[in-house]
Order: sequence, then structure tokens, then C-alpha cells
Amino acid sequence: MHRRPLIAGNWKMHLTLTEAVNLARTVATSASACPDRDVMVAPASTALAAVCNAVADTPLLVGAQNVAWEKEGAFTGEISPIMLTDLGVNMALVGHSERRQIFGEDDAMINRRLRGALHFGIRPVLCIGETLAEREDGRTFAVLESQVRQGLHEVSIEQMAETVLAYEPVWAIGTGKTATTEQAQEVHGFLRRLLAAIYEKTLADKTRILYGGSVKPDNIDALMAQPDIDGALVGGAALKAESFDRIVQFR
Ligand code: 13P
Repeated sequence: MHRRPLIAGNWKMHLTLTEAVNLARTVATSASACPDRDVMVAPASTALAAVCNAVADTPLLVGAQNVAWEKEGAFTGEISPIMLTDLGVNMALVGHSERRQIFGEDDAMINRRLRGALHFGIRPVLCIGETLAEREDGRTFAVLESQVRQGLHEVSIEQMAETVLAYEPVWAIGTGKTATTEQAQEVHGFLRRLLAAIYEKTLADKTRILYGGSVKPDNIDALMAQPDIDGALVGGAALKAESFDRIVQFR
């Protein structure tokens, strides 16, 4: 089953406007050089419009780091899906572990965000992952299954075809501690079987499942060689043009 790889950079709360536009231009060049894979960056919301303009004529995809579920209203601090599509943004991260842990977003809210995004034509990247305590307690698969089932509640098979999954073990984010390729593949295989159980095998075989958590130039090739790893969601190493370019050019 061929799944088009997706390499995504999550810039989190980094980069000024000028820095973001400059980096996006360089990443767009990397993306143009690799037409067999999708490349996306998710800048901070302050830079979304400028980055969209700067890379409009390139294959680089631009995503938001989060998205609200209503098209407008009294939601101080939030950005609506139509505000994003208005800029040319057509992807968004949903349920990143930092949103869950620091900002208290729960699975029900994440599900609303995901369905809101889909409703307005934005492809969501649903992020899931277990903490170290949950892994050490042997609860990894139960936690992930619950995040997937609740995150995808009332998401149709057609909508799921537009959705990307990203497995980011919380203990591997920003720690320099990547999951081993075996640990990552074990979880990705589990997630694909779970999707087949919830939906159907054909859909599961088509769904892209990204790995995130300390992805670097020196581990990307081994990760991408795993049968169920279809791409990467990169934090720190996406902030430097040189390291992200090497990740985009995984072999
Ligand atoms: P790092 O690559 O810095 O570990 O961050 C991963 C991440 O959270 C991407 O969303």
C-alpha cells in the first residue's frame, strides 16, 4: 500500500515574522526538490498570513497549530477554521500534547476542534501520545486507543480519509529521547489495526500515521524505513533550515 509521506514542521511558539517567512521560503525550496512527498510547516498564528503569501506558488503546505470549531463568535483567543481557509491554510494540528497538558484540552474538546476543521475543509492532524508514567504502567495502548476513539468520535469514513494521525509519545517530545524504531513501529502497527477495527482495512491502509518526538537528521531514515511510519512531525529540528532539509530528504 503506497502512502504519500508527509514531513511536517511544528514551529510551536518560535520565530518572529521575518524569521518565519525566511525559513518558510527555504523549506519551500526543499519541498520543491522532493515532489514525491508532502511537506508542511505550522507557524505561529501571527506568521500564518505572511507565510501563506510567501509560499503560495510552491508545493509547501501551511498548517495552523490549532483550530476552533465555530466559524465565528465569542471565543476570545481562538482562530476559526474559515479565518484559516481565508488565508490559504488547509491543515491544522489538533490535540497536540502541549495543548492537552499545558492548556487543559480534553478529548471532547479535541474532537470538536477536529470535526470543526473537517466541516470547513481543513485537514486535521490528530496528535496522540502516552506519558512516561502511562508507558511504565503498561497503559500505552489503552491510552492511545481512548485518545483515538474519543478524538475520532462521529468522524465519518469520508472525513477520516482527510485526516492524518500523529503519534507523539510525550516522553520523547523535546527531550532528545526518541522512541526506538521498534517502539514506534509497534505503536503505529497497533494504530493501523485500531483504525481497521473502527472503520475498515482499506481506510486504515490509506491513512497516514506520522511519528513525532525528537525526530532528527540522524534518526529520520531509520524511522521512515518502518512499514507503518508514513512521515514525521518535527519540533526543534524544524526550526533550522539545514536540519529540516535533511529530514525532508529522508532516504
Ligand atoms: P521535538 O521534535 O522538539 O521533540 O517536538 C516534537 C513535537 O512536539 C512536534 O509536534
